[in-house]
Amino acid sequence: MLKAVILIGGPLKGTRFRPLSLDIPKPLFPVAGLPMIQHHIEACADVPNLKEILILGYYPSSELSQFVAEMMQEYKVNIRYLQEFTALGTAGGIYHFRDQIRSGNPKAFFVLNGDVCADFPLAEMLEFHQQTGSSSLMTMMATEATRQQSLHYGCIVQDKDTHAVQHYVEKPSTFVSTLINCGVYICSVELFHHISAVFNTRQQNYYNDGVGSGMEAAVIHLEKDILMPLAGTGKVFAMQTNTWWSQLKTAGSTIYANRHFLELFRTRHRERLVLNGDRGDSEMCRIIGDVHIHPTATVHRSATLGPNVSVGPGCVIGPGVRIRESIVLAGANISDHSLVLHSIVGRDSQVGQWTRVEGTPCDPNPNKPFAKMDNPPLFNSDGRLNPSITILGCSVTVPSEVILLNSIVLPYKELTRSFKNEIIL
Ligand code: GDD
Ligand code: GTP
Repeated sequence: MLKAVILIGGPLKGTRFRPLSLDIPKPLFPVAGLPMIQHHIEACADVPNLKEILILGYYPSSELSQFVAEMMQEYKVNIRYLQEFTALGTAGGIYHFRDQIRSGNPKAFFVLNGDVCADFPLAEMLEFHQQTGSSSLMTMMATEATRQQSLHYGCIVQDKDTHAVQHYVEKPSTFVSTLINCGVYICSVELFHHISAVFNTRQQNYYNDGVGSGMEAAVIHLEKDILMPLAGTGKVFAMQTNTWWSQLKTAGSTIYANRHFLELFRTRHRERLVLNGDRGDSEMCRIIGDVHIHPTATVHRSATLGPNVSVGPGCVIGPGVRIRESIVLAGANISDHSLVLHSIVGRDSQVGQWTRVEGTPCDPNPNKPFAKMDNPPLFNSDGRLNPSITILGCSVTVPSEVILLNSIVLPYKELTRSFKNEIIL
């Protein structure tokens, strides 16, 4: 029997994701029409003999209870949200809820960071992990990054033949390796002995020498406290993949993830894509490439959508509208002949007629092999806004006949004119 843990953090994390996380917890933000971590759940539910998924975070349970109930219904697998009393770190929560993870005696458990997206190779990881031998504690998914970008990730040096991790440094300050940790692991339950040892040493230090506070012992980081010391012991392995993988840190990264998940649907969930001719040609809008339209959305037949567009429940898309590389969230209304490009239109937002909402994509550099998406801060070193996708927070009103370029609009704003490279508070 197998289990899975999805780490989702809490309201203090995901700050680079604002204003999208202002009205919805970041892990539930819809990408390709599904809440972000539904993609994780779907991947886990596909693994044979995986009996339970535990979502760990410090969001109030009330914010996740409905989602969890819906997911159990949909995937027929046991799912629970376990709330940490405070941020316990990437291994602190796993340790705190160890009895829940170990109950039923799983052979192994997956750990997935909630803020990554990928074509999760879970079955392959299980097979790989089983071949690494009985003393192996963990196999981590790894991928190649550029030299420069590798510094923002956990860096792995592996034995080329055995794939044992010889050296691991979390976000090094100088170059270590271009092989990076994807934040997706499969662990044996024996890993708890190591986490427990870290916890007990911390507690001893506190009681004996007054080092730190009693609370600090409970905060444990999987990367620094567990992986770094375990590297070189022959008990941790890396499984390198070349399939698509990316972090979901900034709003811009959701547009990139949207595109890749829609592409995966082509082979796995064709029913989630709208194809030309699906609804009978006469009433169907024009579709280019991969597009997801929620069945309750209304799209005028003279509109053109795609490639890489997701339209949420209850949206109304008017005549002559053009949408490309964008996410339109539930209840939004795009009026006649407007254009939406590289943007996210927030829940219940209204875009007038003949208006242009446009952003700048932040895709990985296509000329650099293994380049990942950069997650730039909002402002550059001269205090100017870095060009990025345009984001309308929830319930924003954009008037007719204006241009909104590379801007971020906070929820409930009613714009009256055009804006370029601005944050509208
Ligand atoms: N439950 C819980 N409690 N989850 C947490 C906590 C916590 O206290 N802190 C972080 N998380 C969750 C986050 O929501 C995220 O999904 C994941 O754990 C990773 O946390 P971060 O602290 O944001 O780390 P990171 O994303 O910068 O780096 C990690 O992921 C990279 C790949 O995306 C590291 O594992 C790197 O080595 C790795 O390369
Ligand atoms: P960019 O600015 O992103 O191109 O990165 P960079 O200038 O930091 O690295 P670049 O790829 O130009 O390489 C700099 C030097 O490092 C060259 O001598 C490369 O041959 C060497 N190098 C590149 N990748 C690796 C690697 O993975 N391992 C080692 N040991 N050396 C590398």
